This record gives sequence, C-alpha cells and structure tokens, in this order.
Amino acid sequence: MLGGKYTFSRWSFIFISVAGLLALLTLWSLSTDSRKQPLSSLFPYGAAEWTYEYPRHSLNYGLTNEQCDAAFPDLFKEIDRSVAYWRKAGGIRPSNIELSWRESGVVRVMIYNEQLYVLESKLADVPGPFHERTSGVLNTLNRAILSSPSPLPNVELSFVIDDIARLPEHTAHTILAFSRHASDPVGDRVWVMPDFSFWSWPGISGSWPSTQQEVIEREATYADKIAQIVWRGALDMNYPVRGSLIKESQGKPWSAIMSFNWSDPIDKKEKKISMADHCKYKFTAHTEGISYSGRMKYLLNCHSLTFIHELEWVQHYHHLLVPNGSEQNYVPMSRDWKELPQRIEYYIANTHEAEMVADNAVKLFRERYLSPAAEACYWRKLVMGWANVSWVPELFDANGKTRGSSWEEYSIDMGEYPKDERED
Ligand SMILES: *[C@@H]1O[C@H](CO)[C@@H](O)[C@H](O)[C@H]1NC(C)=O
Ligand SMILES: *[C@@H]1O[C@H](CO)[C@@H](O)[C@H](O)[C@H]1NC(C)=O
Ligand SMILES: *[C@@H]1O[C@H](CO)[C@@H](O)[C@H](O)[C@H]1NC(C)=O
Repeated sequence: MLGGKYTFSRWSFIFISVAGLLALLTLWSLSTDSRKQPLSSLFPYGAAEWTYEYPRHSLNYGLTNEQCDAAFPDLFKEIDRSVAYWRKAGGIRPSNIELSWRESGVVRVMIYNEQLYVLESKLADVPGPFHERTSGVLNTLNRAILSSPSPLPNVELSFVIDDIARLPEHTAHTILAFSRHASDPVGDRVWVMPDFSFWSWPGISGSWPSTQQEVIEREATYADKIAQIVWRGALDMNYPVRGSLIKESQGKPWSAIMSFNWSDPIDKKEKKISMADHCKYKFTAHTEGISYSGRMKYLLNCHSLTFIHELEWVQHYHHLLVPNGSEQNYVPMSRDWKELPQRIEYYIANTHEAEMVADNAVKLFRERYLSPAAEACYWRKLVMGWANVSWVPELFDANGKTRGSSWEEYSIDMGEYPKDERED
C-alpha cells in the first residue's frame, strides 16, 4: 500500500516535472526563438499596437519585417522600383551579375542560410577608400543579416563601391550601387543600397550612430546657432555646381562657405570642420560631387536648414525630401545657386518658418528614416526584394566545394578574392 502510494506520487512528480519543463521550454523558445514564429504573429494585438518610438527603437537593428513596415512605410520606394524593373525584365540570372565588365571596385557575394560569403572581389589591391567602402558595405549588410529576427532568403548579388557604377550600356548587367543617375536609363538597372558611411567614413566621421549622438548631445537651440550657411568642399569636382555656390555667396555676411583643397596642409588645418560641427550653423549647403555626395545625410541630421540644389543622383532616401508646404524639410535650389542670397535673407527674417523646416528634417530624417534601425530594415528589404526576382544560389561549386570565402575569414585581410594560394 505504502509502496503503491509512493509509486503514484513518484509518477505524478515525474509527470508534473516533465509538464513543467515542457512549459518552461515553450516559454523559453517563444521568448528567444522568434525565428520559427515571429512574436508579432503570437501576439497579434501587440503587433497592431506597436508603433515606432524615438529614441527607443532608433538603434534597434533587429526590427521585424512588420515593424520595419510600420516604422518606415515610405522607405522602400527604390527597392520597389528595382523589383518592378527586374520583374518586367524577366528576372535576374547569374549572367546579369557577373563582373567581367569592370576592372575593379566590385564585389560579388552570397547570403546562404544567414551566412555571408564573398565569392569574388576585384579591388585591384587599391588601399584606402576602396577597403573602407568594401568594409562599410559588407559590415552593414552582415549586421542586417545577424540582427534579422527571421531568416533571410538565400541570394547572390554584386555591388560596386565606386561613386559611379558605369554599367555597360548595351548589356543587361545589374549591380547594387550607392546611387543611380536619375535620368540615365542605364541607371534604371541599378539597385540603390545605403552608402558605406552608415558604417563609418574614416577621416570624415566615425560611425554613423556616434556622429548622430555627438550632434544630439551638443547641438545648440536653433536660435543660438550661427546665422550663416556653411559649406566646405573641393572645387576640383563638379565645378559648375560648386563654383556657382562660391560665386553666389562670396563676400556675404551670412556666408561660411569655403572651398577646400585636400592636398593643402594649411587648408586641412584651418578650414576643415567635422560633419557634426556643420550643425553649429543655421544653414548648410549640399552639393553633389563625382556623383551623389555622402554629406547630405550628415546635413539632414542637423536641426538646421539644408539648402540642396536640383539633384542628378538618387540615393535610397532622397525621395523623402519635401521642397514646400507644411512638410517641407529642406530648401530647394537650382544648380546655379542664383536664388541663394534671396532665400537666405528670407529665412533670416522668417525664423519661425525656418525652424519649422528644421523641425521637419529632424523628425523625418534624424529620428526616423536615417536611423540605424531604418538602415538595417532597408538592407533586409533589399535582400528580400532581390530574392523575389532572382534565382536561388548553390552553396557548392561543381567540385562539391563550398563557394567563396565566409565573410568572417575574408574580413581579416579584405582585398582581392580569390587570391593566389597562400605559401604556407
Ligand atoms: C591643392 O594644393 C596642392 C598642394 O599645395 C597644390 O599643388 C594644388 O595645385 C592645389 N589644388 C588646387 C585646385 O588649388
Ligand atoms: C511643391 O513642390 C512640388 C514638387 O516639386 C510641386 O509639384 C508643387 O507644385 C509645389 N507646390 C507649391 C505650392 O509650390
Ligand atoms: C516579395 O514577394 C512577396 C510575395 O509576393 C511579397 O509579399 C513581398 O512584398 C515582396 N517583397 C519585396 C521587397 O518586393
């Protein structure tokens, strides 16, 4: 009897323990492994109520696809454009992304089961910017993969780190680039990716989040900012636009515009100001360079008025610029800057209007669409969009070997891949 009772309670003890363990395991897997079942699908009301909050979510690289859509509904226009283009063109095949058309500045990668592989890189062993840019692209892409709360599709794609993609005119090649020419039909084949400075821009600024932070902590109120327009830049590129800016501002009391020669040590010492320090001014000027110019996102990060000339090059967030009305977030200029004196004087006289434009820029760009969270969302959406119109890559080559080099290994040296066998 005693023995029977003992047996019963032992079984019930085991039963309760196993049931408890299972419950704990279930809870644990729900809370940690959102890959199999996103939390949003388990708590549909919570998901519907989720709204993006700044600064709570702006540094969260791991928003779900649904959260990305809710937080940044207007971010993915360029991706949708490319998807539509390539769907109409019949999809992307290996021949569209091969790299024989370029000597250097291009990299071919694969994402396979959430691992990043470098399949080919042609950097012509160029030091400096090419490594910085390659590293910037691959690190931001890898960050978006690692922080993804659900698996990304397997894809194979190529990107270019030069300022201009220079796709051949009469082929069907495509590539990811930092910008595309708005009115060149060859540019229609390009997929626009976030530029490398979302990782960092050595010599210009640290990481993007650290630059944002520096501005947030140090920025004066609009009223206390210097009532001048600031610009620094080289005149040996895009002279028509940059030279006009110098001409229209010369000798004006509201001008802090200076040309800058990178090779001149005195210029470097006396004229160079950091991207964060541009925010000390009420007005900033943006100019294109060889193609797009990476400075724009730093200027839009300021609680200031950004003067932007008509653009020829499109970056992934440029469609969010609003030139007029209650949502205005920058001041449009023609490429010859003729209206500059009159517009500056207008905004010096109409401080409230100026401040409204600056408020709009901060709310839309710094706090939302140029946040690190948005950048990771964009990368993941690009990968998903690409997968929708391309073939599925193979992990192994014809000899049964894993293709390429894992990013972890490649990132140690960077440079050409494949390279000659190591002599060791
Ligand atoms: C820039 O500075 C270097 C060195 O002082 C000089 O040789 C070069 O001519 C300058 N370039 C321009 C465009 O002024
Ligand atoms: C505002 O800008 C848009 C786009 O450039 C233009 O189509 C529209 O006519 C402008 N509206 C006003 C009131 O100036
Ligand atoms: C990819 O295709 C799926 C299914 O048709 C669609 O729901 C999704 O929006 C597409 N994504 C992109 C980024 O085009």
